[in-house]
Amino acid sequence: MTTKELKEKYLSFFQKHDHQLIIGSSLKPENDPTVLFTTAGMHPLVPYLLGEKHPSGQRLTDIQKCIRTGDIDEVGDDWHLTFFEMLGNWSLGDYFKKEAITMSFQFLTQELNIPVTKLAFTCFEGDEEHNIPKDEESAEIWQSLGVSSLRISFLGKEDNWWGPAGQTGPCGPDTEMFYWVGSEPVPEKFDPSNKNWVEIWNDVFMQYNKTADGKYQELDKKNVDTGMGLERTVAVLSGMSSVYEIEPLSTIVLQVTSLVSDLELAPEFSSSIDLTDQAGVDVEKSIRIIADHLRAATFILAENIEPSNVEQGYVLRRLIRRAIRHGKKIGIEDNFTSKVVEVVIDKMGGFYKELRTHRDFITEQIAKEEEKFNNTLEKGLKEFAKLGKDKKISGQEIFKLFTTYGFPYEMTVELALENGLEVDMEAYEKEFIKHQELSRTASAGKFKGGLADQSVETTRLHTAAHLMLAALRQVLGDHVNQKGSNITADRLRYDFSHPEKLTDDQKQQVEDLVNEQIGKKAPVTIKEMTVEEAKESGAIGVFGDKYGEKVKVYTMGDFSKEICGGPHVQNTGELGHFRIKKEESSSSGVRRIKAVLE
Ligand code: ALA
Repeated sequence: MTTKELKEKYLSFFQKHDHQLIIGSSLKPENDPTVLFTTAGMHPLVPYLLGEKHPSGQRLTDIQKCIRTGDIDEVGDDWHLTFFEMLGNWSLGDYFKKEAITMSFQFLTQELNIPVTKLAFTCFEGDEEHNIPKDEESAEIWQSLGVSSLRISFLGKEDNWWGPAGQTGPCGPDTEMFYWVGSEPVPEKFDPSNKNWVEIWNDVFMQYNKTADGKYQELDKKNVDTGMGLERTVAVLSGMSSVYEIEPLSTIVLQVTSLVSDLELAPEFSSSIDLTDQAGVDVEKSIRIIADHLRAATFILAENIEPSNVEQGYVLRRLIRRAIRHGKKIGIEDNFTSKVVEVVIDKMGGFYKELRTHRDFITEQIAKEEEKFNNTLEKGLKEFAKLGKDKKISGQEIFKLFTTYGFPYEMTVELALENGLEVDMEAYEKEFIKHQELSRTASAGKFKGGLADQSVETTRLHTAAHLMLAALRQVLGDHVNQKGSNITADRLRYDFSHPEKLTDDQKQQVEDLVNEQIGKKAPVTIKEMTVEEAKESGAIGVFGDKYGEKVKVYTMGDFSKEICGGPHVQNTGELGHFRIKKEESSSSGVRRIKAVLE
């Protein structure tokens, strides 16, 4: 079975069952500002899963390219990838559990000819807290199709719940399908923790909308969202022991392998070669990481995204730089990334035309990023070697390696762990929240939320907004309160209650007060307390109305104390120079300020 064959079989099966074929979307999610990349086929369909009418009807199918970085540490094992293709079929308020499960079962057992004895299934065990029942119904449907009850396991929210993809939106319990890859006979009873059971497909019953306050609202129309990992499924069905053995990954791996100068190469790459070199470096793992990361980088670059220190650009930078470090580790000579990327474009550019259209941009950008990183990598590694005398790496050291040598945070942490050093995880987490992508770590179901956009710049402006509110209250009076804010990486826009236009002098005073606080390099501290305690402490901001509810209070020196979800910088000295660009009316009794940090 090839990836092309599986794509054709899947799409034609669902088309036969009245599904319209739709075109997969871009890797940049259009409908959800809270995620950085499309992590599943359902992203582009969010408005339709919430009830809007889709122009192609209620039954859809497609192939969607996806990026998931939540599992990045596992890339290099047999099954995990950061870029992958997902096959999917959807019911938008049309069929539900019975038809979805029946079609999945038919596709697996009749189209792909998988014996039912090699399959197992998980269903949702229920969630008392949110009053969501155990999904006995799905289990009964599987059993009615001939599945033994011994092959069905019930699991909780961590495993058998999908969505929302961002912070809010459609979600629901799911039922997952597993294939036995072990060489020993298939055990009669299913144990989901046995690694020989590999998940290949997921049917999600999207019947809830998660709201911003964490509630699950029943949707009027119930939907089905499914996802089958293309590479994984082809690999297991072909009897391969990893996704790197199937096309197009096998050719990319072969190309990377050929660049490892002192490796004795067999004519064909085979996982049976012992690729652990004398120094104990896991060469095979590094080769896989390079192949995966540079493939993902190629697809991100094809979206016209450039490496940078924020958002998608940061994820891209991190992938490229991690690949380069692994290249060095296994002795690949400099300027190799474009040689790998060319193979990705040749192998995948037939189906994904954007790779060919952007070939020059992709190869130029990747070569440029490699050169940039090479210029500081050696020095950075030397600097790194000096650290950790007390077996620890501090948050500040991680920060310095990033700002001075361009080491992505995660890479420094990885280096530290490889060298048996302890990392100050708390300080690291703070940096992580500031700089990491917001993209949902899909497998674990975690979000990195707060502000919608968590670039360093946005975080700084967010802190500046707190200082500005305190300054406005000093200059204009205590009637000033926040009425709304919108912060991007470039500027802050802030609405506040005040009846009249600010004079030039007032604006100047506000600017001066904020800059004075920046000049003081005051620490920003955070404390969790109850609403009552927050009020008593003199904090301003929006108070929740639940008695005993815990809130976070951010204090900046002795100047500002405000209830807020964060994140903020650790010291006001990190802000630079604050300037008000514009002051205007927003609505009756509300003024608006646009300000920047320079
Ligand atoms: N959206 C579901 C998943 O990605 C189908 O697993």
